[in-house]
Amino acid sequence: MSEAVHEVPAAWAKRAYIDDAKYQAMYQRSIDDPNGFWAEHGQRIHWMTPFTKVKNTDYNGDVSIKWFEDGVTNVAYNCIDRHLKNRADQVAIIWEGDDPSESKKITYQELHDEVCRMANILRLRNVEKGDRVTIYMPMIPEAAYAMLACARIGAIHSVVFGGFSPDSLAQRITDCESKCIITADEGLRGGRKVPLKANVDAAIAKSGGVDHVIVVRRTGGAVEMDPVRDVWYHEAADVVTAECPCAEMNAEDPLFILYTSGSTGKPKGVLHTTGGYLVFASMTHQYVFDYHDGDIYWCTADVGWVTGHSYILYGPLANGATTLMFEGVPNYPTNSRFWEVIDKHKVNTFYTAPTAIRALMQAGDEPVKKTSRASLRLLGSVGEPINPEAWEWYYRVVGDNRCPIVDTWWQTETGGILITPLPGATKLKPGSATRPFFGVKPQIVDAEGKPLEGAVSGNLCITDSWPGQMRSVYGDHQRFIETYFKTYPGKYFTGDGCRRDEDGYYWITGRVDDVINVSGHRMGTAEVESSLVLHEKVSEAAVVGYPHDIKGQGIYAYVTLMNGVEPSEELRKELVAHVRKDIGPIAAPDKIQFSPGLPKTRSGKIMRRILRKIAEDDFGNLGDTSTLADPAVVDDLVNNRQNKK
Ligand code: PRX
Repeated sequence: MSEAVHEVPAAWAKRAYIDDAKYQAMYQRSIDDPNGFWAEHGQRIHWMTPFTKVKNTDYNGDVSIKWFEDGVTNVAYNCIDRHLKNRADQVAIIWEGDDPSESKKITYQELHDEVCRMANILRLRNVEKGDRVTIYMPMIPEAAYAMLACARIGAIHSVVFGGFSPDSLAQRITDCESKCIITADEGLRGGRKVPLKANVDAAIAKSGGVDHVIVVRRTGGAVEMDPVRDVWYHEAADVVTAECPCAEMNAEDPLFILYTSGSTGKPKGVLHTTGGYLVFASMTHQYVFDYHDGDIYWCTADVGWVTGHSYILYGPLANGATTLMFEGVPNYPTNSRFWEVIDKHKVNTFYTAPTAIRALMQAGDEPVKKTSRASLRLLGSVGEPINPEAWEWYYRVVGDNRCPIVDTWWQTETGGILITPLPGATKLKPGSATRPFFGVKPQIVDAEGKPLEGAVSGNLCITDSWPGQMRSVYGDHQRFIETYFKTYPGKYFTGDGCRRDEDGYYWITGRVDDVINVSGHRMGTAEVESSLVLHEKVSEAAVVGYPHDIKGQGIYAYVTLMNGVEPSEELRKELVAHVRKDIGPIAAPDKIQFSPGLPKTRSGKIMRRILRKIAEDDFGNLGDTSTLADPAVVDDLVNNRQNKK
């Protein structure tokens, strides 16, 4: 573990909103007097009717989480309209296309007009407050218009990442009973086309129940249009006005659903609401990235993930920021792309994922060094633990030893950043997410839930609510309670392991449940297993994660075939293709081991601990195998392991 410490640069201590003394004082107040603290910071957004109540949360019993519950507001109003007086001509979104010759700038006034048009298109199709709209889009400005249009009229958006398959999309359409879909003809990433509209057609064939599909023309590729159901966005936009009133939304009215993987079952619809979410997203964006007027801010996430929701769109726009939206990938057309975009648009703050950093690090320093990056001031990391080597490379080569790195720990469920450095306040230790944000009370517990003090390792819980917290699992509140509040009663359990050092810094060590984190994308092992056993030649499957140089974790599948089916290289490829098609490319197994049997206890439970060790090529100490029904299977598993060092 690297023990290097990077002090706060003098220039940062001067410029930043928050220095260390201020952090200490504000943090203490946020814990001692949450109602007073959040009553004050709740004022950072505009309320049509001011709230009189602040915090009303209970982690016990039925679990009820309410913030600013009698306030009335609108997220689109806060992200657009309230800025028009002073910022109508300021750039809200810089869009950089997949092809380096394509980019455009959208001002706040233009954003207003486009969002109103999209909102009117939805209204004409009878989309009303509370209705669910599924958004399946490439990274183009219309994705932002679509999300904000929903927020404007009070519809609940469910953005599905464009890399998910038709089946995964169908499952998400069905779960939230969405009758309207916004998509594009095709996406474009790294020069390759993604057949979004065709995927939507296939998904609807399965899910049914969709009345309207609005299609944005991106590539001009041929698509089929159903004359009754489908409409081109540019044609629909021609016949509506650029004015649309903002719906009055209660602070606790839903804003969006975002599906995410857990350790069991199908993906859950994480439900976020309006007021608390926006206060928290905008406040974390301002302080963690120390956003000042005039800064150019770039988060490389996709809007299909929560990072795109909170830190491309809602947080930055609520703060009147200029946010960059990138359609492409880090290595197209060359490994210099990120750094060229930084120079082209004079980006000051750059926020990306460790997997991208590690991949670019492998390409060497030269693609970075040939760019200037003089505009850069701050770097950020999110999505998975960043190993100290990648941290140091990011700091030294990308940031030229002068830009602090904010390693931000959070989750789809948390809505915004919970553990993070603040650049003007926090000394950095490579690999540590450092200290809690205001109002966040982390606790490390042992397996029985006993709180551990001082420098310790254990499981990470949060003991009290913050405004950006998810409120429920859409349509299944019981599952919300079971998943997050039953393991350690009365506490929110994150699913992450964590160490706290002698300085009180937090080091996230990764998931302790059956969730794997592949290139910063969450995947439930159970989901991949169910997909594999759908294949006619597969009798049983067990999936675990293993350390992967670039992706952080790779997917390792143990597969038992049906009687009489012979393992082969072709079958291996067929199974990988099957999972890609069934769930999406991000779920494709990296390794498949055919195994005649799986290590099970006498009661039939698969011993994953053993499978993980074998996948890691660490089978010297498999622990106690005496409880196995058939200990001999272990020898076969070890002999045929796919990750021999
Ligand atoms: O394991 C943690 C890891 O990503 C999980 C959350 O994934 P997701 O809901 O997809 O959200 C990702 C973007 C917020 C967490 O449970 N994780 C996220 N950020 C970090 C991290 N692990 C270590 N360090 C981080 N900075």
